[in-house]
Amino acid sequence: MNRKEAISAMQRSVDEITGGRRLRRMRKANWSRRMVRENHLSVDDLIWPIFLVDGEGRKESIDAMPGVYRYSVDLAVREAERAAKLGIPAIATFPNIDNRLKDEGGSLILDADNLINKASRAIKDAVPEMGIITDVALDPFTSHGHDGVLRNGNIINDETVELIAQAAVLQAAAGADIIAPSDMMDGRVGAIRDALDVAGYSDVAIMAYSAKYASAFYGPYREAIGTSGLLKGDKKTYYVDPANGEEAVREAEQDLAEGADMLMVKPGLPYLDVIHRLKQTFSVPTFAYQVSGEYAMIRAAAANGWIDGDRVVMESLMAFKRAGCDGILTYFAPEIAERLKG
Ligand code: PBG
Repeated sequence: MNRKEAISAMQRSVDEITGGRRLRRMRKANWSRRMVRENHLSVDDLIWPIFLVDGEGRKESIDAMPGVYRYSVDLAVREAERAAKLGIPAIATFPNIDNRLKDEGGSLILDADNLINKASRAIKDAVPEMGIITDVALDPFTSHGHDGVLRNGNIINDETVELIAQAAVLQAAAGADIIAPSDMMDGRVGAIRDALDVAGYSDVAIMAYSAKYASAFYGPYREAIGTSGLLKGDKKTYYVDPANGEEAVREAEQDLAEGADMLMVKPGLPYLDVIHRLKQTFSVPTFAYQVSGEYAMIRAAAANGWIDGDRVVMESLMAFKRAGCDGILTYFAPEIAERLKG
C-alpha cells in the first residue's frame, strides 16, 4: 500500500470520528491554556525541609544532594529569614546528631535543648512569622538508626510511643507549630495529641506521616542526617509495604480518628495514587514529601544534561497538585519560590 492509498483508507473524517469535538482547540495559545488550567503552583504550597548540625558558622554539603546543606543553628536562622522573604510558609527541620551523642534508646530526643529544639527557639525568635514543623522520631538520635526502641531485634511499639509523645511536648515548648511524627508506630498520633493537650499546647497541630513507605528513596537523607552507616536491617516492620494502597487508607483513617490535622504521603512522585486516594477519601489537608532520592535523581539527570532539570522540577510539583496535594515538602522550595517570584 502506498501513501496515497493509506490516506484514502480512512473510512470517516476526523470530525465524524470525534463527533466534531476538538480537544486541541483550547491548547492553541498560551492565553487559552492559562484560561483552562486546572491547577496552579504557588509559594504557599511549599514547605522547605532543612538539615541541622551542631556548631557555629557551619554549612556542609551533602554528596548525594547537590545544592542541599546542613546548617548550624545560626545559619539555619539566616536561611529561615531568606525563606520568609521568599514567602515560604513553613520549614521542616531534621537534625544531624554527632554519633558520640547517640545511644541505644535515643535519649537525646528528651533533651529540651537538643539540636532540633535549639533551632526552633532561635528561628521562632528571629522569624516569628515562619511556621516550624518538627519531625518527631528517634532515628536521628539512636545508635542503630531505627525510629524506635530496639530490643532483641524488635522495635518496641508502645515504649517508642511514650518517648515520642514526651519529645513532642518538648518540641512544642521550643516553638514548633506542627509536630510531624514520622515513625509509623501504632497509636502515636493519639498519644502525641493527649500529651500536647495536657501540657497546654492544644493549638499545636499534627501532620501525620500517615502513609510512610518502606522505601529505597530515602538513601541520600540518611547520608544527610548521618544514619546511613548505622542502620541495622531495614524498616519494613513499621513502614508501609510499597505494594499496598488500601493499607494507606486505613493508616490515614486511624491517624485522623486519633487527632491528626493533616496527612502526609512519603515518598511523593512514586506514590501519587496514594495521595489521590487519601485526598478523595478524607478531604483533609494532604501533603506529599518529595524525598531525598527524588531530589537526587532529578539533580543527577539534570547535571548530566539528560533532562531539563528546571522543567522537570516544575512538572513534578504540578503533578503533586493535580494528585490532590495541598502542599509539598521539597528540597527545591527556595529555588522554586525564586522562580515563582520572577
Ligand atoms: C525517618 C525519616 C526518614 C526521612 C525523614 N525522616 C526516612 C528514613 O530515614 O527512614 C526521609 C526524608 C528524605 O528521604 O528526604 N524518621
